[in-house]
Amino acid sequence: MLFDTHVHLNIDPFAEDREEVIERAQEAGVSLMNVVGFDRDTIPKAIELAEMYEFMYASVGWHPVDAIDMTDEDLDWIKSLASHPKVVALGEMGLDYHWDKSPKEVQKEVFRRQIQLAKEVNLPIVIHDREAHADIADLLEEEKAGEVGGIMHCFGGDLEIAKRCLDMNFYISFGGPLTFKNAKLPKEVAKEIPMERLLVETDCPFLAPHPYRGKRNEPAFVRLVAEQMAALKGLSLEEVAETTTRNAKKLFDIS
Ligand code: NI
Repeated sequence: MLFDTHVHLNIDPFAEDREEVIERAQEAGVSLMNVVGFDRDTIPKAIELAEMYEFMYASVGWHPVDAIDMTDEDLDWIKSLASHPKVVALGEMGLDYHWDKSPKEVQKEVFRRQIQLAKEVNLPIVIHDREAHADIADLLEEEKAGEVGGIMHCFGGDLEIAKRCLDMNFYISFGGPLTFKNAKLPKEVAKEIPMERLLVETDCPFLAPHPYRGKRNEPAFVRLVAEQMAALKGLSLEEVAETTTRNAKKLFDIS
């Protein structure tokens, strides 16, 4: 039983064959999923999927790449969805310095406002961090995000950043890059993180694990991430699946 804590089954690459993709996930032992919405189009679709399937949950937030587009109404809307019974977290939110559509200062402001909202509604947060590790950790500390905790999604930082996040009640989630042949850093970091604070995810359709790198990713492939984690930890796949699923259920408050 695996919990894919970050899927985007709510976007176009799955429009044609979503049903088959979900079936393959179930055959692969993926029994729970968190569908992440990040803008005006993808948030309603995440909620819709979570309402349609018992084993799907939703997270709602505003992506840092599009921070410049977020209005006060958007934030109020996200707040209104926070009380939906299948919404388990706010996000993804964070900082993305790879793309320059939204200036850094705008990204930081939109990130701060969402952290403050999460504290208000008492939900954990899902963090998107691309090339912004230190600024993310600084901002989470400044805003006392540890009061709600959450997930460092598809973590790519070093051990020092990971430890700062662990100190703030965050879980560290690894995806496809953990399986890449040349990925030394995530493997080193994953080895050092206690099993009780690790999660697995796909971030599908992005970041497909080895040997599917470059292809469309899907939730069934989270098993490959869990197998890699098991190898790094000297544990069985079953042990990794059981612990990471328990961790995610605890974080999302799913009984
Ligand atoms: Ni994502």
